[in-house]
Amino acid sequence: MADLDDIQEVRKAGKLFYPEIKQQTPGFFLKGSGNYDWGMKNRLSQIFNPLTGNTLMLAFDHGYFQGPTTGLERVDLSVMPLEPYCDTLMLTRGILRSIVPGSTQRSIALRASSGPSILKEMSNEVLALDIQECIRLNASCLAVQVFIGGEFETQSVDNLSRMINLGNQYGIPVMAVTAVGKDMARDARYFRLASRICAELGAHIVKTYYIEDGFDTISSSCPVPIVIAGGKKIPELDALRMARNALDQGANGVDMGRNIFQSENPVAMIQAVRAVVHEAASAEAGYEIYLKKCGGRK
Ligand code: 5RP
Repeated sequence: MADLDDIQEVRKAGKLFYPEIKQQTPGFFLKGSGNYDWGMKNRLSQIFNPLTGNTLMLAFDHGYFQGPTTGLERVDLSVMPLEPYCDTLMLTRGILRSIVPGSTQRSIALRASSGPSILKEMSNEVLALDIQECIRLNASCLAVQVFIGGEFETQSVDNLSRMINLGNQYGIPVMAVTAVGKDMARDARYFRLASRICAELGAHIVKTYYIEDGFDTISSSCPVPIVIAGGKKIPELDALRMARNALDQGANGVDMGRNIFQSENPVAMIQAVRAVVHEAASAEAGYEIYLKKCGGRK
């Protein structure tokens, strides 16, 4: 049996993760995705821009466990003005059907797991959608929460595996979202463990968090694309720095919510994030864009 020390080992030999050597993906632009069928590759190309290899997903699925949280009280008024600037909308089917016009040109990452609200044990999730519904809604990607180390870890792993089996039948990528319990350490060791498990189970994309120390070991040991969640609202320049650092250390984009829709100027902020993700802008250059788009009104 594998021993716990194996996962605790970090940089014993200094270079075990080789973050400076990019993983090769012959025949396709996206990490680890060269062996998929046409439909899967095409859907991934609707999420990740083939020219930059990156994505700006706008996450506003929080209502599935938080209700009308700050910034999402009126999705029609607060989020829809951001739609032209992102690549992908990450949301629930309820908001998709009730608010988003069918004419949108943005790809759809559909929240496919659900369960308890913030009032209860959050890891007790189940699958929320059947695959026919995902096809009907023209999803380019299905998002399933995975609670490694959580109370209902196995159930969430089963949710992920079942959705991957269904997604693979129809060529729809599945994004595993690594959820961290309140009392768990948010460090490189944990995110390496969670991200790699999701990839080993067959997730086509892994969503995780950026951390200052050792993010490059998380991305280099995960054989499929990683996107980062934004997490709690922080000052705009710090959020842009986080995005820049994550991209420089191997992420293929952001799936950012609160740091965009809770910004003092969300339309300016999403354009700044876009410059960082797709135009290789520095965080400082992104912040200049933010200030300029604010037009003196932050
Ligand atoms: C909820 C999610 C959210 O989509 C995720 O947390 C991204 O949003 P934020 O940038 O606000 O953290 O997966 O479980």
